[in-house]
Amino acid sequence: MVRLAHVSDVHLFCPEARWVPEDLLSRRVTGWLNMTLMRRGRKFQDAAEILRILVDDVYSRRPDAVIFSGDATSLGFREEFALTAELLRINEPDCLPTLAVPGNHDYYTRSTAQQGLFEHYFARGLEGERVDGATYPFARRVGPLWLIGLNSCTGNDWFWDATGEVGPEQLDRFKRLVARPHIAAAPKVLVTHFPIGLANGKPEKPWHKLRDLKAVLRAAHEAGIALWLHGHRHRPYYLPATPRTLIPSICSGSGTQKKCWTYNEYTFDGELWRVERRQFEPQQRRFATVQRYVAELNGLAAPLRG
Ligand SMILES: [Fe+2]
Ligand SMILES: [Fe+2]
Repeated sequence: MVRLAHVSDVHLFCPEARWVPEDLLSRRVTGWLNMTLMRRGRKFQDAAEILRILVDDVYSRRPDAVIFSGDATSLGFREEFALTAELLRINEPDCLPTLAVPGNHDYYTRSTAQQGLFEHYFARGLEGERVDGATYPFARRVGPLWLIGLNSCTGNDWFWDATGEVGPEQLDRFKRLVARPHIAAAPKVLVTHFPIGLANGKPEKPWHKLRDLKAVLRAAHEAGIALWLHGHRHRPYYLPATPRTLIPSICSGSGTQKKCWTYNEYTFDGELWRVERRQFEPQQRRFATVQRYVAELNGLAAPLRG
């Protein structure tokens, strides 16, 4: 029996973050306006407080590990990473084992991606077995499971561009990693930021999608991935496998966005993947269970719904 907490898209914002001259010519300008003058800022105005309560809730339930599927920040600033890492307790000596992958907001500009800020602040979440010493992908064993962290994000130039890509080189390492006999023989769960599809099963919008989804999906399916866990979409959902999506997937939703503020807890007993969704109750200032269901797993148990 293994229990996991899945948190995503917490999008901390620090208005006092330090800007450098090149930021004034980057998509950070429109991103900052969006956070300070537009609706997006109001959606995340209490993000730090909610995340503190969420993490208290996770720790009080003592899961075996925590999964973080990206978008720690709003604009990819160093101050935002430092605050999110602190609130997630990822660098504390007694922190729960945590597996983390970046989101597109964590690679907000090309220079943020190149500086490796996510990898610096979330280094404890990137520990695991890897190929050729490359940062991604990596694999971490938790009980009977192998969790595979795959980076699906790239630094983009245009303010409307929220797409991502795994890339052929990382995909080649992924194939070699999951082919290792001890990993190949075990149930494997993929953790990445981008989804397979929307809640209605349709493909993501062109400006919001994983550009090489088809190749990643094919490789993950051939590798026998049982389940695909992700963020990027801020409402939680479960998508069973179909002839198009191939692999069942779960979006945990945003942990901190107003009126979404949710995370998942999973229990896997070797056969069934039970999902318990916990949501913030603004009146009581606490998280409570609002939904329970059993997700199907490729190559494992038959699904039970309810
Ligand atoms: Fe997000
Ligand atoms: Fe995202």
